Amino acid sequence: MLLLIQTLAMNIVNRQVLTLDEFTIQQLRQFPQATGELSGLLRDIGLAAKRINVEVNKAGLVDILGDAGEINVQGEDVKKLDVFANNQLTAVLHHGISCAGIASEEIQDYVAFDDEVSKNSKYVCLFDPLDGSGNIDVNVSIGTIFSVYRRVTSKGSIATREDFLQPGRSQVAAGYVVYGSSTMLVYATRRGVNGFTLDPSIGEFCLSHPGIKCPENGKIYSVNHGNFFQYDARVKQYIDVCQKKAKADGGPYTQRYIGSMVADVHRNLIKGGIFMYPGTMDKPKGKLRLLYECNPFAFITEVAGGKATDGKQPILDIKPMELHQRTPFFIGSKNMMEELESYLS
Ligand code: AHG
Ligand code: MN
Ligand code: MN
Repeated sequence: MLLLIQTLAMNIVNRQVLTLDEFTIQQLRQFPQATGELSGLLRDIGLAAKRINVEVNKAGLVDILGDAGEINVQGEDVKKLDVFANNQLTAVLHHGISCAGIASEEIQDYVAFDDEVSKNSKYVCLFDPLDGSGNIDVNVSIGTIFSVYRRVTSKGSIATREDFLQPGRSQVAAGYVVYGSSTMLVYATRRGVNGFTLDPSIGEFCLSHPGIKCPENGKIYSVNHGNFFQYDARVKQYIDVCQKKAKADGGPYTQRYIGSMVADVHRNLIKGGIFMYPGTMDKPKGKLRLLYECNPFAFITEVAGGKATDGKQPILDIKPMELHQRTPFFIGSKNMMEELESYLS
């Protein structure tokens, strides 16, 4: 018995739960030629995420709920937390040593940092500072989404538009944070997808979901049924198929739609499923933004073994023309996506 207790105690003492910083440094050690700039950038984003998390958690207590009184470049109401999250991310990336510039849902044009350290940095970062922000006031999960590219212009010069308008296939890393029942940061590089849960007792993201793989099959389909009559006939036909496979008819499928893409796609990534935001008759390109909403999730999902398309081509192959361009978006488990594609083609 004593031996058992001693062994348990030793296991607890030696328990090796890697923090986000420890994990990225461990990855770095496998590449002696790496500069550590990507680890630095992920650390900076992790810091901004912790600050945003604190504000999200006390949103009901302080005067940070509600509208900031502005309309953003998308013509949508800006919430105070959108502004806070945007400022935190911009500040940490500007103060860090890895980022030459940023583009954000909340800023009309890209911002190239013009100090010497930033001009000599390797990466640019694009983000949706707060996704699902319409859900803040009602205590539903929201998130942050980010995408990282190696700049195509030379180090030493100021970043330009072409650094930001790269196809998603060129992403070096992409990730998201879900502010939910717990706060999680998930990020992907070409080497894999890993998830970290915030341990509030030490204020660190700890590796909780190593090597995430998206199940090849799933049971969940996520779509805004309110727009059903606005969808293309082929999309409607696929949704019909999903409904026929749904539980009410004794089938395995079920419908789940939170209205916070981060939460919807995160759930489907872990459990298997398909998420759709198709174009509508009024808005043929749909609602979601290619660069800082769809591309990061497409990258993460492909690395995890799933697929993402606009209905015609892989999301990651689209050559972007504008920072805030929208695209129809279909993403999820490989086999569900292939079934969808058989209807769309
Ligand atoms: P954002 O809060 O950044 O503007 O994004 C909200 C997005 C996305 O998270 C969600 O899936 C979608 O809007 C929901 O839109 P509908 O209400 O039209 O379904
Ligand atoms: Mn969004
Ligand atoms: Mn947003």
